[in-house]
Amino acid sequence: MQIIKTVKELRSVVKSAKKEGKTVGFVPTMGFLHDGHMSLVDYAKKDNDFVVVSIFVNPTQFGENEDLDAYPRDVEGDTRKLENRDVDVLFFPSVEEMYPHGYSTYVNVEGEMTGVLCGSSRPGHFKGVATIVTKLFNMVSPDNAYFGQKDAQQVSVIERMVRDLNMDLNIIPCPIFREEDGLAMSSRNTYLSEQERKDALVLSQSLFEAKNRIEQGERISKKIIDGIVDKIKTIDYAIIDYVEIVDALTLNKIETLEGEILIALAVKVGKPRLIDNMRLEV
Ligand code: PAJ
Repeated sequence: MQIIKTVKELRSVVKSAKKEGKTVGFVPTMGFLHDGHMSLVDYAKKDNDFVVVSIFVNPTQFGENEDLDAYPRDVEGDTRKLENRDVDVLFFPSVEEMYPHGYSTYVNVEGEMTGVLCGSSRPGHFKGVATIVTKLFNMVSPDNAYFGQKDAQQVSVIERMVRDLNMDLNIIPCPIFREEDGLAMSSRNTYLSEQERKDALVLSQSLFEAKNRIEQGERISKKIIDGIVDKIKTIDYAIIDYVEIVDALTLNKIETLEGEILIALAVKVGKPRLIDNMRLEV
C-alpha cells in the first residue's frame, strides 16, 4: 500500500492506474477505523481494481464547540488495517495540503436537505462535508465512491450534490455496520464509559422496536416518535437532539408513514453525541 500525502503524487498514481484500464474505488474517512469503515473498504475492493482510502479529519465540518481537537486518531493502527485489506493507496494529507493559505471556496447544498436533522443542530456541518468531498473527488477522480448509511443525511446530501453539479461518478450507499448487540459502530463510541456504552443500546433498540411497530401496522409518525423518545428517556442523563421520521429521498418530515422512510435520531449519551437511523419501505 502506498501512503501518499500530496495531491500531486496522488493524481499521478491514480492516472497510472487508469491508464492500465483499472477502475478506481474511493472510501473517504476521518480515520480511527472500525469494522464499519472496513465494510466500505470491502465493498470498494469487491467492485474495483484500484482502491483509494483517505484519512483526513476535516476542520471545516466541525462546529466551534465540537470535538475537532479531541477527535480520536490512530494512523498506525489504521495503516495496518488498510494494509491487511490490500488497499492500494492511503491518502493522508495535512490540513495545509487541503486548505492552503488563502483558501476561500466552499460547496453548499442549500435548502431543506441541509436544514433538517443534523443540519439544524450542526449549522455549517454539511457545507464542510460537501466542500471536502468535492475536493477529494477532484483529487482522486474515482469511478465509484462508498458512503455508509450510518450517516444517512450525508449520503443524501452528497447524492444531491453529485446530481446538481454533474459530477461523473457513482455514489454507492452501504448498510450500517453494527456491534453484535446492535450499537451502530462509530469512531465516537470510544468516548463512552462502560456504563454509557451499555446505556447507548437504547438507541438501536428503540429503532428496532419502531420497526416492529411499523411492521405490525402503525402508520402515525408521532406515535412511533413518542415510543422512541420514551425508550431513550429511560436513560435519565441522555439528551435528545432530535428524533424524526422523514421521507428517505427528500428528507421532508412526514406525518403518515408510507413509501421509503427514514427514522433518524441524534442523542448525547454522556460526552459523545451519537447518531443512528433506520430506513424502511412501508
Ligand atoms: P467518518 O465518520 O470517518 O466516516 C467515513 C465513512 O464511514 C462514512 O461514509 C460513514 O457513513 C461510514 N461509516 C461510519 N460508521 C459506519 C457504520 N457503523 N456502518 C457503515 N458505515 C459507517 O463521514 C465522514 O467520516 C466524513 O464526513 C467524510 C465523508 C470523510 C468527509 O470528511
